[in-house]
Amino acid sequence: MPLPLPFTAPNLLAPMEGVTEPCFRDLVLRENAAQALGGAFTEFARVIQVPIPRWMLSEHLGPERHAAPVGLQLMGAEVAHVAESARRAEELGAPLVDLNFGCPAKGAIKTCAGSALLDDPARMEELVAACVGAVTRIPVTAKIRAGGADDTRLEELARAVERGGASLLTVHCRTRAEAYRDTADWERLRRAVRAVSIPVCGNGGVSTHADLARLRAETGCAFTMVGRAALGDPWIFTGRRVTAAEAADFLLRYGAELARRRTTSVRAIAGRIKQLLRHWTAGDLCTGAHAEWLALEDLELLRRLRGVAGPSAPDPWVDGVISGLARV
Ligand SMILES: Cc1cc2nc3c(=O)[nH]c(=O)nc-3n(C[C@H](O)[C@H](O)[C@H](O)COP(=O)(O)O)c2cc1C
Repeated sequence: MPLPLPFTAPNLLAPMEGVTEPCFRDLVLRENAAQALGGAFTEFARVIQVPIPRWMLSEHLGPERHAAPVGLQLMGAEVAHVAESARRAEELGAPLVDLNFGCPAKGAIKTCAGSALLDDPARMEELVAACVGAVTRIPVTAKIRAGGADDTRLEELARAVERGGASLLTVHCRTRAEAYRDTADWERLRRAVRAVSIPVCGNGGVSTHADLARLRAETGCAFTMVGRAALGDPWIFTGRRVTAAEAADFLLRYGAELARRRTTSVRAIAGRIKQLLRHWTAGDLCTGAHAEWLALEDLELLRRLRGVAGPSAPDPWVDGVISGLARV
């Protein structure tokens, strides 16, 4: 029997490389109570040639623990190394291990990992089973796309994950060929639910708070996972409508966290903030003016956000940079 899942609610924050590192993740988990956001995932941790070193797994997991669990996602194709990485993750306190079978990046495909495994369900099953065998107390979950070139093998892929012993199957309802296209076919989620008896988490195309429950109602999925819409509205899980000031304050706090924990480069931090702004919808902060915000020079971006956030958001890093007191 697969081990039970630790999630505190049916809505989950998707793993997103370059975004769901601990700074962003911790802010989102703090803004959404565990009854609204049931869990999150690290960015994928890539297993290449050797098991992932413990220090790197610890970095992915981050220093903070929340009421809602953060699963550690692994991506790799070498069964023994992926399984050993899963074992280490459990030893370091990961509440679950998730396996990535969806990444369409060339680097992943070249090493037969990520979405390359959508063409090899037998290896996919072997990887899941090896990880299930390597851990003792925590569940193993798997995230697939609806297929590689097309969706004809969806049921076969879903059953491979189930046979491997996974506790949850997440399906991103786009195929590898469809990459991140706008439309998302939720009928594929219904098919996955019918194909297996383990819980299914539906992912793809959620854009509003109302979509979270609608996806479950229309597909029979037990869980809903949100990717890009959560980058643009970190409160999507609670459905709270924030003000422009709260939205700007969030972005500045994100910048300040990055400065404290990762990099003091204003360039890099402004780049991360702009990555969120590309998707931003919360607080009508930049509705209709995305291009204008994205064109702002780094310091001007921080200044503009500081102006909108108002006096409620003092931060020594932000104010230091803006007034030119900090070394940049
Ligand atoms: C910037 C970015 C990075 C991503 N990185 C990962 C990753 O590390 N692991 C993973 O399984 N999926 C990753 N994905 C895919 C998302 O988890 C999700 O499946 C996809 O965005 C579809 O959901 P959405 O339509 O809600 O955005 C990434 C997506 C984006 C946009």
